[in-house]
Amino acid sequence: MYLRSFADSDGDGVGDIGGLRGKLPYLADLGVDAVWITPWYPSPMADGGYDVRDYCDIDPRFGTLADADALIADAHRLGLRVIIDLVANHTSSEHPWFAAALAAGPGSPERQRYFFRDGRAGGAEPPNDWISAFGGSAWTRVVEPDGSPGQWYLHLFAPEQPDLDWDQPVVREDFDAVLRFWLDRGVDGLRVDAAPAMAKAPGLPDAGHEPGARFESRTWIDNPHWDVDGVHDILRRWRALGDSYEGGRLFVTEAVVRDPERLSRYVRPDEMHASFNFDYLTAPWEAGRLRRVIDESLAALEPVGAPATWVFSSHDETRHVTRFGRAFTGAGFGGAAVPESPTDLDLGRRRARAAALLTLALPGSAYLYQGEELGLPQVEDLPDEVLQDPTWERSGHTDRGRDGCRVPLPWSGDRPPFGFTTDGVEPWLPQPSAWSALTAEAQRDDPASMLSLYRTALHLRRSLVDLHAAPLTWRPSGDDVLAFDRGPDFACVVNLSARPVALEGRVLLASGPCSGDLPPDTAAWLSSPGAG
Ligand code: NOJ
Repeated sequence: MYLRSFADSDGDGVGDIGGLRGKLPYLADLGVDAVWITPWYPSPMADGGYDVRDYCDIDPRFGTLADADALIADAHRLGLRVIIDLVANHTSSEHPWFAAALAAGPGSPERQRYFFRDGRAGGAEPPNDWISAFGGSAWTRVVEPDGSPGQWYLHLFAPEQPDLDWDQPVVREDFDAVLRFWLDRGVDGLRVDAAPAMAKAPGLPDAGHEPGARFESRTWIDNPHWDVDGVHDILRRWRALGDSYEGGRLFVTEAVVRDPERLSRYVRPDEMHASFNFDYLTAPWEAGRLRRVIDESLAALEPVGAPATWVFSSHDETRHVTRFGRAFTGAGFGGAAVPESPTDLDLGRRRARAAALLTLALPGSAYLYQGEELGLPQVEDLPDEVLQDPTWERSGHTDRGRDGCRVPLPWSGDRPPFGFTTDGVEPWLPQPSAWSALTAEAQRDDPASMLSLYRTALHLRRSLVDLHAAPLTWRPSGDDVLAFDRGPDFACVVNLSARPVALEGRVLLASGPCSGDLPPDTAAWLSSPGAG
């Protein structure tokens, strides 16, 4: 859940905890097991809350600690778990630790919490060639307390997000306290932001980036600022801390790394429980590519005994209804350029429906991004002046950033703000008027809606025991078809070809009309698949 855009309870146009509390019954009815909430801490919002000013409080725009406690209690009453975001690679530049480091000057212990270094070329050039995920150099020069041009500090994301130095014991100890603060309040798990960024190669050597290089972390091998082995010590420390709570607590990492094998290191038995699967998220809508990602993901996780995860959309990525309606259907996470092309939203929606049944039939856990259950497309025509993602400025207005997947949800009614906030209030990003057909209210009782498909699939998934434990075995099928069994009495068939394919078995659920044959870009769940 992208909290700012989920539901607003106090009429300021920004989603908040009260809004989420009010919608918990919707989430329980949808059939999800847990909610992951993007950062809710006090923040200047230079990066949508991923710039934290205080790790042990709630931003007043989102509510109070008492609201958070009430949310956790309500969620638990409804059988929902609560996972919050742990942003530990960097703080906000407005965090008191950073303010103290700036004020204390070069060589002070306060500066050691972060990466302050003298520049090259007599101080005028950054200390090395590292780049920011949002474009440009990863270093910014400060003005020293005496007014002179001074040292540089490292920020792998925006300049408002200075990186912490995790080699410093004080950083580790302070974050132990942060984890305990939230786990003691009853939070069930933590989603670890930007995990591969947390360790840096000693001496901060150049990475060898070409001038103008993009942050393509999935292509990097032996990079000094990404996926450095030291990160695993931090993850082990947190796992031990989480395990000290009765029943343990869940850790899921965000780790955009080279391949499934590198990813599997984050989920070794004494590290994180799960990690998001960016190979799946970025895969194009092609049977061969998807089959390969599924096989490689499962094979890499098998030796470490961790569950696979599957995800097609997030608050950082172009919504997949839109991607799947383009000529190039993959995604460009991690800075990879994506070719522009016209979008066929009907096609995208048909495929997204099929993708939902594929995702929910795979072994492991599935992560859904708010609004995908409504079939929301990316909003591609936000006016320049409303864009807030730092990518827009940092890229010199060449990359419009991630605001298009963060537009507030349409809940009800026939015009903006569609029940997201008080009537007459403008949401923090404008909603398209065409979303009147996509509100939760409009879809709730329509059996053909995207919402009904997700709800039915999630509830069926819970009741079909084969989907809990049985391994995946591929069935013989054409190259453009994904067909697999999960146990003796369940099969999933996804037709990515241009022709109908014959189905064997009783259809439990299909992503589109199908009588006998499965049309293109359609998926079906079948029982007794061997019975014909
Ligand atoms: C990943 C988060 O999902 C993204 O929204 C954020 O910009 C970066 N990490 C930096 O914290």
